[in-house]
This record gives sequence, structure tokens and C-alpha cells, in this order.
Amino acid sequence: MIKIAVLVSGSGSNLQALIDANLSGSIVGVISNKAEAYALERAKKVGIDTAIIEHKQFPNREAFDAVMHQQLLDWNVDLVILAGFMRILSADFVQKWQGKMVNIHPSLLPHYKGMHTHQRVLNTGDVLHGCTVHYVTAELDAGQALTQGVVKVNLHDTVATLAERVHALEHLIYPQAVEWICNRTIQHLDNGQVLYKGQLLEQPIQFCKF
Ligand code: GRF
Repeated sequence: MIKIAVLVSGSGSNLQALIDANLSGSIVGVISNKAEAYALERAKKVGIDTAIIEHKQFPNREAFDAVMHQQLLDWNVDLVILAGFMRILSADFVQKWQGKMVNIHPSLLPHYKGMHTHQRVLNTGDVLHGCTVHYVTAELDAGQALTQGVVKVNLHDTVATLAERVHALEHLIYPQAVEWICNRTIQHLDNGQVLYKGQLLEQPIQFCKF
């Protein structure tokens, strides 16, 4: 059984969705870089190990990442899931977990990498928006996309209403993508290629919510 660690910084609603999904992999630990993250309570409630590793306590990114890496090794982790983890990871850490680390980002990548995605979508006047599960590479929000959830942007949408709909969709597509990794429907090959049901995955699998 695949052993999973989830990295969080905040509320952890995506962590909750992963817990509730009864994955065929096992969530063996949750790491937070913030002691007050509610995600830690969610993990403790169901008996998942937690570790607080506060980035503020470390002189630089590399030192912080080295302690996280050691914790992941101690838990014998096969797959790292970033779920609202608000730290940029060092290239060295990313390389160590290449092909074994995924993230969810609130936009239809490659559009709107980085922050404030909902506001930027509204500013541009896009008609579609959503979220993307992708492998993590050293370049921010740029790794191979696995799944996407798509929502329609309505005339009266605000950042809050859009964020709410995208967030709800995250809770559907993230557990699905992780389950596909756990049961090997999705495979990351050593050469960087990603297979879905044994075929090269060229486009992310899309889920539309309209
Ligand atoms: C989500 O919107 C996710 O896309 C982004 O951070 C947020 C995490 O929310 N990466 P939660 O902590 O899972 O509720």
C-alpha cells in the first residue's frame, strides 16, 4: 500500500477530502509549517501522525526542506501531497521527490500560475476557470497536469463566489487524482512521462461542473 504524506499550511479542507475518500493508499503523516493550521486538528482527529516544522526556525529554505525530507523518510513515504502548503520548495527537495509529489492549484494551468488566481480571472474576463492537479517540478506550477476541474465564470461572480465553487471542485478532483496514483491508473515513468491507463497522458483529464 502506498504511503502518503500531506503537507499543509492552513485549513486543510483538501486534506479532509482526502481523508474522507478512503483512498487505497494510506495517509501516514501530515506536516505543517504553521503550528496553528487547522489541518493538524483534522489529522489528529483520525489518528494520523503530525509534525510541525516551522520555516521561521530555520536560517534558509534548504535547512527547512532538509528537516521535512528527513521526516518523510522516517515515515517511509512514497507520495507527497501538497494541499494548501504555502512555501516554495528548494530545487534540491523537489528533485528528491520528483515524480512522487503532486500539488493542486486554483487555476486551469498553464494559465494563472502563482497567487490571486480568482481575481486575475475576473480581471481578464475569462469565461472558464478551475483547478489543476499536477506533478511538482522546480518551476512553479509548471509540472505535468493530471486532472482539471472546470467551472463557468458567471457575470455576477466575485472572488468569494468563484473561490467557493473552485474549492468545492478541488475536493472532488484531488482525491480522484490521488486514488489514480495509488492504484496505478496514473504512473510516472523514470523518463518523466506520465501514463493514464497505460497510455501517454497528453492532456489533463477534465471534470466539468456545469
Ligand atoms: C486551495 O485553494 C488550493 O488550491 C491552494 O490552497 C488552498 C488550500 O485550501 N493550493 P485548504 O487548506 O485545503 O482548505
